[in-house]
Amino acid sequence: MNTFVPYLIIGVSVLFILGIKFLSSPKTARSGNLVAAAGMLVALVVLQKTGGDNVWAHGWTFNYTLIVIGTLIGLVIGAIGAYSVKMTSMPQMVALFNGLGGGAAALVASLEFIKDTHYSGIAGVELSIPHDSAFIAGSMLFATLIGSLSFSGSIIAYLKLEGKFEKPHTFPGQNILNGLILLVILGLCGWLTFNASSGNATTAFIVMFALALFFGVAMVLPIGGADMPVVISLLNSFTGLAVAADGFAINNLAMVVAGTLVGSSGTLLTLLMCKAMNRPVTNVLFGAFGSSGAAQAGAAGVVGTVKPIQADEVALLLAYAQRVVVVPGYGMAVAQAQHSVRELTEELGNRGVEVQFAIHPVAGRMPGHMNVLLAEANVPYDQLIEMEQINPSMDRVDVCLVIGANDVVNPAAREDKSSPIYGMPIIDADHCKTCIVMKRSMAAGFAGIENHLFYKDNTRMLFGDAKASLNALVAAVKAS
Ligand code: TAP
Repeated sequence: MNTFVPYLIIGVSVLFILGIKFLSSPKTARSGNLVAAAGMLVALVVLQKTGGDNVWAHGWTFNYTLIVIGTLIGLVIGAIGAYSVKMTSMPQMVALFNGLGGGAAALVASLEFIKDTHYSGIAGVELSIPHDSAFIAGSMLFATLIGSLSFSGSIIAYLKLEGKFEKPHTFPGQNILNGLILLVILGLCGWLTFNASSGNATTAFIVMFALALFFGVAMVLPIGGADMPVVISLLNSFTGLAVAADGFAINNLAMVVAGTLVGSSGTLLTLLMCKAMNRPVTNVLFGAFGSSGAAQAGAAGVVGTVKPIQADEVALLLAYAQRVVVVPGYGMAVAQAQHSVRELTEELGNRGVEVQFAIHPVAGRMPGHMNVLLAEANVPYDQLIEMEQINPSMDRVDVCLVIGANDVVNPAAREDKSSPIYGMPIIDADHCKTCIVMKRSMAAGFAGIENHLFYKDNTRMLFGDAKASLNALVAAVKAS
């Protein structure tokens, strides 16, 4: 059976890669999940068994019953989580699951590191850690460090997304203190790599583990709640790297491949999100974005007045429109207005109006947030147009309906060099003939800055909860 192992590993890797590929479009995302899950099943059922020799060689007792019990518990928790979680709470669930992955990777590596020790530092018995080489010991330490900080950091990210302590928690000298803690951790890891059999190794290992957990908390606390999707994506790539290091430590190639895939895709996603916000990763991690300093900036460049409008007046504009573009944003998710949007756009489509949705890559609070919500409401995929594709034709749009979006349509990103979001690509809603902005008040969005669009001559504000406004619009359009 072991002869087939390399081929099975290649098969599993192909399934993982295809799974990620399919996840890149809402049309194929469901199949992507199934394909990747099939790969995981093969990895669990076949590779664990055939890889048993390797596991034995490291001194473990291969217990198939435990693996089946663990898999079943995981399946039940995963299924309950997936069915019960609300779409708006998806980022929290991702944070939790990622944290558990990181914690599991850290535990596997820790057990591997200390399994033959007798806790000399605690019980006074001599250590004997039979690590094959400094490379294997280094892999275990790397997985423990990265996995545990990913675990504790993800838990803080989860709590921030739950609204427990959203604001950045900062104090003078915080980055220096965090840097010092990291240096101590790296120093301990360096020493342990070459002194795994020393009498003080277990104590040093436990201190390193505790500091790594603390560092995860200290790293995420100063970051604002709305930046959590970027942080989770970064921590997700850490978890992947920890799993890959575990793979080296316990000689499991499937873990190396899966971990590397997660690590690289998480890194790419982090960089893409930062690019779409025009902010370097360092600004997300150390900039305390969303703290009071940034609030209500950009008001200086505002020209014009705010002009409110009523739903029946908007319905009249829509009745004469040939092309309508909807720009959804975070407020649509908060209001859960996606079904009402679909009803309105369907009605307009039936009346011969060309309707499209302009999708900004970081609209909402997680990657693909708008795609997921609109797909849930059965909006046809071909109506969803990416920002780069729709922008060149925005000046030929009769009515642009901005639904709960704010930063992603703020022209200050194009026009105001002093704006914190200057340079961030936006959807050019201000280029259309008439722009209707639906939100509850003049409150700022995530970036905490004034929006120049609200004051433009061709903009009208339809104040109110997005779902209530849309339902009023649907009724008014149907009555017209
Ligand atoms: P935001 O700029 O955050 O604005 C959302 C707007 O929705 C708010 O101004 C709010 O105004 C309105 N709103 C809230 N509840 C509403 C309701 N029930 N009905 C109607 N309106 C409601 O959203 P955006 O334009 O989607 O931009 C996303 C922001 O998040 C960007 O700055 C982006 O950089 C950041 N971000 C995104 C991600 C990802 S991956 N998507 C990750 C990190 C950061 P009122 O309170 O006046 O209603």
